[in-house]
Amino acid sequence: MEAVLPDPQRLIGRVAIVTGAARGIGAATARRLAAEGAKLLLADRLPDIFATAAEIGAQAIALDIAAKDAGQLLSRAALDAFGRIDILMNNAGIGGSKSLADSDDDLIDRFIDTNLKAVLRITRDVAPHLTRPGGRIINISSTLALAGYPGTTAYAVAKAGVAQFTRQLAAELGPEGILVNAIAPGVIETPMTEKHLTKPYYIKAIVEPTPLRRAGRPEEIASVAAFLASEDASFVTGQVIVVDGGWLTARNPPREPGEEVMG
Ligand code: NAI
Repeated sequence: MEAVLPDPQRLIGRVAIVTGAARGIGAATARRLAAEGAKLLLADRLPDIFATAAEIGAQAIALDIAAKDAGQLLSRAALDAFGRIDILMNNAGIGGSKSLADSDDDLIDRFIDTNLKAVLRITRDVAPHLTRPGGRIINISSTLALAGYPGTTAYAVAKAGVAQFTRQLAAELGPEGILVNAIAPGVIETPMTEKHLTKPYYIKAIVEPTPLRRAGRPEEIASVAAFLASEDASFVTGQVIVVDGGWLTARNPPREPGEEVMG
């Protein structure tokens, strides 16, 4: 299936910061925003961030989003390079958490610090510099924030925090003309999920019951992020947009031939 083509004019004149852009969803979104005309500051803790940025003519900064000064470093770098900030995409995150019984203090701290506290701190420190009106904040939550699923407790709780943070901030910043939304991806093929996508239980529980019968591609999150970053989303705020092939709300497990759906 052909992807929807980027509109090369849609984000001209806009400056975006994307965290976690060395690979996966962040890199795909950076490519998409660049293809739509935005200027970009990309951030990641992996040195690959410089190669991703060079490929699309973006600026890059290597940092740990959980560092307390990350938001200030991002703001300064974007303002020095471009003189304005229009869009902040909080994408960086870690996966692979465990059930509560197997979660030691270190694991809980790591997931809450990186996947939740860093998003609050960075947004607090970048938001004052966002263009008013017209600024955009796009957070990456997860379908695991919206329904119980065993074995990913600290991750799911952090991502649920991101979803509520999105609604909270949309209320706080709406009067200033800043729109705040989140995307809740289902399973997307990235380095974060590649090892899970070979496990039979994961395929049975997540991929097979998905009505579209497949995992998503990073570009399918990037296109939604580009919409939220654009004027096309001018009356959309406080939303957590699920992009999961229908898994969360329309599950359809495969049946044997002749097997009835209902009794
Ligand atoms: P990924 O692991 O391929 O990419 C994540 C990027 O974030 C990496 O480049 C990594 O170095 C960076 N990062 C992680 N911690 C960082 C830190 N402390 N400081 C700086 N950079 C850091 O993962 P993927 O799949 O692209 O995930 C992107 C976002 O989407 C994450 O927030 C993830 O939780 C979320 N998500 C992913 C889903 C999936 O199925 N792939 C499903 C739902 C949500």
